[in-house]
Amino acid sequence: MLPAKGRPAAEVLAELRALRAEDQAFASGRVLGSMCTAPHPVAVQAYQMFLETNLGDPAWCRGAQEAERRALASILGLLHAPGGSDGLLVSGGAEANLTALRIARRSGLREVILPRTAHFSFLKACDLLDMEPRWAELDGQFRVDVGSVEAQLGPNTACIVGIAGTTELGTVDPIRELGALALEHAAHLHVDAAFGGFALPFLPGAPGFDFALAGVDSLTIDPHKMGMAPIPAGCLAVRTAEMLRRISVPTPYVSTEAQASLVGTRPGAAAAATHAVLQHLGEAGYHEVAQRCMATARLLAKRLREAGLPPVLEPVLPVLAVPVPKPEPVRAALAKQGWFVSLAPLTRGIKVVCMPHVRPEHVEAFVPALRAAVQEVQ
Ligand SMILES: Cc1ncc(COP(=O)(O)O)c(C=O)c1O
Repeated sequence: MLPAKGRPAAEVLAELRALRAEDQAFASGRVLGSMCTAPHPVAVQAYQMFLETNLGDPAWCRGAQEAERRALASILGLLHAPGGSDGLLVSGGAEANLTALRIARRSGLREVILPRTAHFSFLKACDLLDMEPRWAELDGQFRVDVGSVEAQLGPNTACIVGIAGTTELGTVDPIRELGALALEHAAHLHVDAAFGGFALPFLPGAPGFDFALAGVDSLTIDPHKMGMAPIPAGCLAVRTAEMLRRISVPTPYVSTEAQASLVGTRPGAAAAATHAVLQHLGEAGYHEVAQRCMATARLLAKRLREAGLPPVLEPVLPVLAVPVPKPEPVRAALAKQGWFVSLAPLTRGIKVVCMPHVRPEHVEAFVPALRAAVQEVQ
């Protein structure tokens, strides 16, 4: 309730400290279901520095605007975006995917071909944009089956979605083949690399997924996932700046001429924090983070097999789906012991993400806890 008279700051902060103590900190290593992680300390400092800035009305915060431009330039470079490309920092993967479908919807067409592994944000986007999802089936390795995508293509196809790092299994769809199909049928190809975007470029031998492949029109990549930026930091990258102009509206009340973003007021702090962590880690830093997370994921896969709970796939990215009987009760039993996993609905199990805050010692403690939880609910 809003108090009639303000309460002393110390009292309010004490209340919040108590609330915060009810949260699980990433540093505990027990948050195993999240695709976000503890933000890098340099990003936290940058965030605080730009706290009051607003990218929606940048006349008085040109510095924050420049921070966004520099962060975007780094991300576009990482994604092999050609000259004339552009992008937007947004709140996260859901907003980036929605913005991509807004672009595709400008064709006047309604159908979106989605792999069975697509994130639920696409369903929200279809609902908002009056678009129709058409589901494409998966191959034996849980990548989208190109033949199934082709079978769904038709005169009403606005967009094909490919995923580079699926939410449940970390698998990467055959983006090169999807690009060829998109070009052939003049459809928009959007690649959702919200999770994989900051890991795949740093894993030797990982499949291609970005603008280097012909036909890729737009791409979601989230700094607040493997990029180690604070929430909210997502990014939509587009092959041509014209794509953003297509969805822009004039903005007469503020100091921009037009905006393609869904929201008006946007945090300059998130842009500054993203730029800070990108510059501080650089390619070598992200390489180290990606390798470390993959090593943790491989250790987890090994320990799971030893415990008789093999994962569905060897890790492609640092995420593992583990089939268990009664996944929901297993998740609840783990939560009671202070371990937080998510569900793997496609493969009927639980999902564990080895984000940078998850260390080998957490894996060693978690696997016996999972075994106990599985036994408990049987
Ligand atoms: C592949 C993929 N796309 C999109 C999203 C949505 O991202 P956000 O929750 O940051 O909006 C997620 C979230 O996990 C994801 O894994």
